[in-house]
Amino acid sequence: MVGAICKKQNGRRQERIISKPLKKDMQHFDERAQNWDDDPKKVKRAIIIADQIKASIKLSTSMKALEFGCGTGLLSYQLKDLFKSITLIDNSEEMINVLNEKIKNEGIEHFDPVLIDLLYNDLAQNDFDVVYTLMSLHHILDLNKILKTFHSVLKSDGFLCIADLVQEDGSFHDEHLNFEGHNGFDKSELRSILSNNGFKMLSYQICLDIEKEVNDSIKNYPLFLMVCKKE
Ligand SMILES: C[S@@+](CC[C@H](N)C(=O)[O-])C[C@H]1O[C@@H](n2cnc3c(N)ncnc32)[C@H](O)[C@@H]1O
Repeated sequence: MVGAICKKQNGRRQERIISKPLKKDMQHFDERAQNWDDDPKKVKRAIIIADQIKASIKLSTSMKALEFGCGTGLLSYQLKDLFKSITLIDNSEEMINVLNEKIKNEGIEHFDPVLIDLLYNDLAQNDFDVVYTLMSLHHILDLNKILKTFHSVLKSDGFLCIADLVQEDGSFHDEHLNFEGHNGFDKSELRSILSNNGFKMLSYQICLDIEKEVNDSIKNYPLFLMVCKKE
């Protein structure tokens, strides 16, 4: 670790601890934050994953949710009327700035954006009914550490919803020079890591293909949603 940033946003103290490799990844997302929502494919995938989460779990407006790696909040926006409150976490300062601006403009009161790296900061234990994450888990090398954190912040019988890439050949992050994460996930390997960390898989679906231009041709990368329960 090389340092910590503490700031106040929306009247809340926000903090992140920076490690060297994460700093490179954060820069990648900081640079893309302003234009993130301009990509209709990112909006569409958030809509599809939100619909699938709604179809997979019985949600109620008494529930508290946590989105990990929220970016500009595209997925939480699709789920916003279904929860009592949503805490949105990201370690990219620019992503959180864009999200704060959207929340301010739209007067949303039950969103709580937090600028932290969850690997190095704790949240309250047994606090959330649902944790969900879209395209962010593959950025986390230490899966055991982040899954332990998800487990500790969830209430008993809470749900974890992971939407991410099916295992791919590494070409997905070709233009992301500082990428140091996973090339997607194999279903049974991920299921086993989840089981070792106290989660039982309830369902797994391929929800859509992310299309990307790679070496002048279009390549498809399937995106899955795995829904698990805290045991
Ligand atoms: C591919 S983006 C996905 C953003 C958003 N979920 C979406 O689908 O539009 C991955 C996000 O995870 C965030 N992220 C990566 N590592 C993180 C960490 N250790 N703690 C918090 N956020 C992290 C990045 O800053 C980035 O916003």
